[in-house]
Amino acid sequence: MLSKLEIDWKQIDEIITHYGNEKEALLMIMQDISDIYHYVPPEVVPVLAEKLGVRKSHIFSVATFYKTISLIPRGRYIVHVCTGTACHVRGAEKVMDALKTDLKTQEGETTADGLFTLEGVRCIGCCASGPVMTVNKETHGGLDRSSALKVIDNYRNLSS
Ligand code: FES
Repeated sequence: MLSKLEIDWKQIDEIITHYGNEKEALLMIMQDISDIYHYVPPEVVPVLAEKLGVRKSHIFSVATFYKTISLIPRGRYIVHVCTGTACHVRGAEKVMDALKTDLKTQEGETTADGLFTLEGVRCIGCCASGPVMTVNKETHGGLDRSSALKVIDNYRNLSS
């Protein structure tokens, strides 16, 4: 179970002010908040609505439309395993299975310690290096079960 999040309201306010309280900056503001918390805490939605003068429903639709934005807690590390055709034929499924077992989680879920969110994605544009996965903004290619687990271990060690 993820622990209850402490929101730094001063920091949220600074982000909104940085963009001049402009409603056109909603996506960038949500992105900046996501960079800090790995998601947009739902408690922030009414504050954004009020300060930017937008409807809450608009904020929800932005969160639904953009894959990089989530209103549900996500891990510090977002693991995207490519399940596109080129990666699939090279064993992406085995990589995904190994990660599910190691992380004790399913696709679309976050580990109990809040470190990793595991997601399958379609082609990420480096098919020649398949199977590939990204962890946040870093790409790891030529994976098999053991090298994928080694990558995860490296990120785990960074956090311990
Ligand atoms: S199919 Fe995996 S990167 Fe293209």
